[in-house]
Amino acid sequence: MVKLNKNYNNLKKSYLFAGIARRIKEYKEANPSADIIKLSIGDVTRPLTKTVVEALEKASKEMGAAETFRGYGDEQGYAFLQEQIKNYYKRNTGVQLESSEIFVSDGAKSDVGNFTELFDTDNTVIIPDPVYPVYVDSNIMNGRHIVYIEGNEANGFLPLPDQNTKGDIIYLCSPNNPTGAVYTKDQLKLWVDFANKQGAVILFDAAYESFITDDTLPRSIFEIEGARTCAVEFCSLSKTAGFTGTRCGYTIVPEDIMINGVSLNKMWLRRQTTKFNGTAYIIQRGAEAVFTSEGYAGCKENIKYYQENAKIIASTLDKLGIWYTGGINSPYIWLKCNMDSWEFFDLLLQKAGIAGTPGSGFGKCGDGYFRLTAFNTKEKTEEAMRRFEKLFI
Ligand code: MLT
Repeated sequence: MVKLNKNYNNLKKSYLFAGIARRIKEYKEANPSADIIKLSIGDVTRPLTKTVVEALEKASKEMGAAETFRGYGDEQGYAFLQEQIKNYYKRNTGVQLESSEIFVSDGAKSDVGNFTELFDTDNTVIIPDPVYPVYVDSNIMNGRHIVYIEGNEANGFLPLPDQNTKGDIIYLCSPNNPTGAVYTKDQLKLWVDFANKQGAVILFDAAYESFITDDTLPRSIFEIEGARTCAVEFCSLSKTAGFTGTRCGYTIVPEDIMINGVSLNKMWLRRQTTKFNGTAYIIQRGAEAVFTSEGYAGCKENIKYYQENAKIIASTLDKLGIWYTGGINSPYIWLKCNMDSWEFFDLLLQKAGIAGTPGSGFGKCGDGYFRLTAFNTKEKTEEAMRRFEKLFI
């Protein structure tokens, strides 16, 4: 008889955001007149920019004409998009990449999850707590041993390695989801040196880099000397360009990472060519448009819009004297709720019709905290904060 992967028994019953969506749906069914404002999952509300839409339309038309029709695409993504990503890295971070190091994908989440396949299940994984739950869940699925390193108010939710830290695979997310904290260059250097010394690999999630407003903060781990021999970077257009429904991301695997004489880049290429047939041509043309000067200016406008929402949330919390962090270099506000995170979730939902994300969903250290996103519309964010204020004044 077929045997199932028993590691799935060690997962929580549902993925965090699927569980929240179910709870909101159940509440809505029981209270049909409830007007719920979602500040929970980080899903964008601004439409795609005009430049991107035009590129998508043009590419769709090309697919409908025999002379311009395209079948299977280039394995790592089309050269036109790789080139734009390369140029973007150069002007945004000063980092020089080779095209062979850029893998276009359908988003950071799938790559982050799939990348674990390249590593033996014997490895120990270091995961900061609290953090994006995909890192934990995908390693539980593979049965790997996880060591959590504590993020808290004292270390600004930016844990660093010390003499007791041991592990082979390190996940870092900066700007951090959920706390919005961003590692400085000096702090990332500590992680890079640690990884190179231990022969470990850093899986760096840069999905929120475009929200960084402080120019002294690193937007890519490759801004740090030594990162090319130990780090892989995942990025996505979901939050940068409103692609949560359009799906496009990219993973950078430097040619310089060699593990026991094996190139991680070539291993990932082998994996992707076997199991992934690429992101749709039409979508890659839309992604190409994001990186043009006109396209990127439109995306920046949308990011500014969300940053204004973050200010609306922050000013309400300031008024109420509630401790929070994030919102400046990140679309998330991480607040202290001084009670069980799930109790706070129920309280907000039932008394104010606001849905957020309980901090404990991101790890044990997140209990007593709560995440609100700035991704809803301005009007709904304002209304949510009016209700929030009324509840806690
Ligand atoms: C979040 O809300 O943390 C993100 O939207 C989830 C994701 O990007 O998969």
